[in-house]
Amino acid sequence: MGIQVRQLRKSFGGTVAVNGIDLDINDGEMLVLLGPSGCGKTTSMRCIAGLEAPDSGHITINGRTVFDGQSGTNVPVNKRHVGMVFQSYAIWPHLTVFENVSFPLDMEGVAPAEITRRVGEVLELVGLAGMDHRGASYLSGGQMQRVALARSLVMRPDVLLFDEPLSNLDARLRDHLRVQLRELQTQLKITSVYVTHDQREALALADQIVVMQAGRVLQKGDPIELYNHPATNTVAEFLGYTNVFEVDVVSGDAAGSEVSFKANGRRLQAGPAPGGNANSLCVCVRPDHVSLRALAAGDDAPVGNAIAGEVILASFLGSHMQYRVRTGEREIWEVLSADVAAGTRLGSRVALSIEPRHLQVLAKDA
Ligand SMILES: Nc1ncnc2c1ncn2[C@@H]1O[C@H](COP(=O)(O)OP(=O)(O)OP(=O)(O)O)[C@@H](O)[C@H]1O
Ligand SMILES: [Mg+2]
Repeated sequence: MGIQVRQLRKSFGGTVAVNGIDLDINDGEMLVLLGPSGCGKTTSMRCIAGLEAPDSGHITINGRTVFDGQSGTNVPVNKRHVGMVFQSYAIWPHLTVFENVSFPLDMEGVAPAEITRRVGEVLELVGLAGMDHRGASYLSGGQMQRVALARSLVMRPDVLLFDEPLSNLDARLRDHLRVQLRELQTQLKITSVYVTHDQREALALADQIVVMQAGRVLQKGDPIELYNHPATNTVAEFLGYTNVFEVDVVSGDAAGSEVSFKANGRRLQAGPAPGGNANSLCVCVRPDHVSLRALAAGDDAPVGNAIAGEVILASFLGSHMQYRVRTGEREIWEVLSADVAAGTRLGSRVALSIEPRHLQVLAKDA
């Protein structure tokens, strides 16, 4: 059960939007499609919904084939039992909250008492209980998005599809609704596909993340596995590895390697180099894996796997300090430090140390 997508292809004129992707979404699981603008996330989702006719491939929802390129099967959108929530809320401003949410039930001819009961139930679920008679144009962005969510839930869909539903909201509301969505998803266990280009949202919401680029799948896995073991520099960069440098491997074995930075010849101890014959390699390091300490005057060669540099940005984020440190010709490191009391300032000389295993040597994408 759940959703299976096989060899899905869709082009628009000469543009190949989706280029042969496979997806497996388990029953009750939320799969997040993550990738840059134009990589084919929305198109993939619209093919699952039935809003877009694929060129070829095969899609099943809960064991039923809804699209098959070879036999010509193409179940229309209103027969697929999918609920959808988009970036634009698509709710009617001249109707009340109740009227917006009850609309699809009215269309189905559900009895009025049943409508009242089910609308009440979903409004409670999304935290809008008691707001039934409020005009939709008097709602905040977050409330409008919750009306849209309630309207898709009221039909008790087999599958929920979300296309960047939080991206029109301000940061605080987005954080708040993200947590609510995670709660709701774990409670209702509706098989869902969620499209975003925001890595934080992807990590927080997903049971499984699929990273896409240019119509193809780069890597899939559960959030923690993917975050700790990205396969290539592109995946690492999507997931917040802000320090990426091209390197050559000087020596190494299964336990670790020594790398040399292509830009300036810097040598560091790193994790093991990947197998296979990648044309080009990178080291990728998360900003929270770099530790920073003040250097005594004149000390320009810190011991260990460390680099000397100068702080060129210091920014207080509340729970963390964000630093940018220039360590040489074409070499700037991003650092996230939980030690907000350290008092390291702009212009300070510092040593950056990184445990070798946190310098992940990865194949560089073409
Ligand atoms: N109706 C359309 N007609 C022509 N080209 C389209 C159409 N829809 C999408 N495309 C093209 O297909 C590619 C994939 O688009 P898609 O909307 O799936 O990307 P996306 O990953 O959702 O991007 P974003 O993050 O910007 O929403 C893009 O190159 C886009 O320009
Ligand atoms: Mg899109």
